[in-house]
Amino acid sequence: MTEETTPKVLIVYYTLTAQSGSVADAMAKAFQARDCEVTTAMIEFTDERWVPKLSQFPMKRPFPQLVSILPAQLRHQTGEIRVPREAQEGDYDLVLLASPTWWFQTSMPIRSYLESPAAKTILDGKPFATASISRRYYSINLRQQRKLGEKRGGRFSGKTHFVVAGGQVKSMLSWLAYMKDGTPRARALGMTLPPPNLKPDFEEQARAFVDDLVDEVLRRPAVAG
Ligand SMILES: Cc1cc2nc3c(=O)[nH]c(=O)nc-3n(C[C@H](O)[C@H](O)[C@H](O)COP(=O)(O)O)c2cc1C
Repeated sequence: MTEETTPKVLIVYYTLTAQSGSVADAMAKAFQARDCEVTTAMIEFTDERWVPKLSQFPMKRPFPQLVSILPAQLRHQTGEIRVPREAQEGDYDLVLLASPTWWFQTSMPIRSYLESPAAKTILDGKPFATASISRRYYSINLRQQRKLGEKRGGRFSGKTHFVVAGGQVKSMLSWLAYMKDGTPRARALGMTLPPPNLKPDFEEQARAFVDDLVDEVLRRPAVAG
């Protein structure tokens, strides 16, 4: 890759409450600002075993609805998804994966993609980077995305994570209230709650990560001599 060629980047993501989608958009803009050609591909979760409970937002009864997929997540099960054509075939210079954390793990839709033949076609021999989007927990999600991507022949090239503000208890209350109301709640149980979603500087964080990837992976200067 030289300064003259236009690098092709694919961003594959899944999103339930638009947080990973916002990160994917911010990263797409940042890649475009660095003269990359960007394709975004949103994985659709279509599995009838879980979608009826999970697709509702706001949720009538968040806790049981969110817990409905817990055993399957812990067992690393895969489910039915729809993969856009752009994430089934294509010759990209870099692939960026973005997944919310679901019960500490990579979300089932992204795991299902990474275990599919389509991911092998896209990732084999290619650099890839990973992003975790969550309330608080990211390390297992990132580790799983990396392992699965490498299994499909990808070359791991970087990772980042986005978490919300606040400590364990308050951020949990804030998130559960958000899942129930569909809008942020300012107070609960006499406590002031932190915002349930991405921190205000998430676009800056996305831009800094993308800048590093472009410099380190896509436009690495040729070694002289
Ligand atoms: C089924 C489910 C399980 C979740 N489990 C966790 C978890 O274990 N740890 C965590 O930090 N966040 C967890 N979350 C919160 C999401 O990771 C977080 O809200 C994320 O920003 C959602 O991204 P999205 O809007 O792109 O779907 C969970 C969310 C869902 C829907």
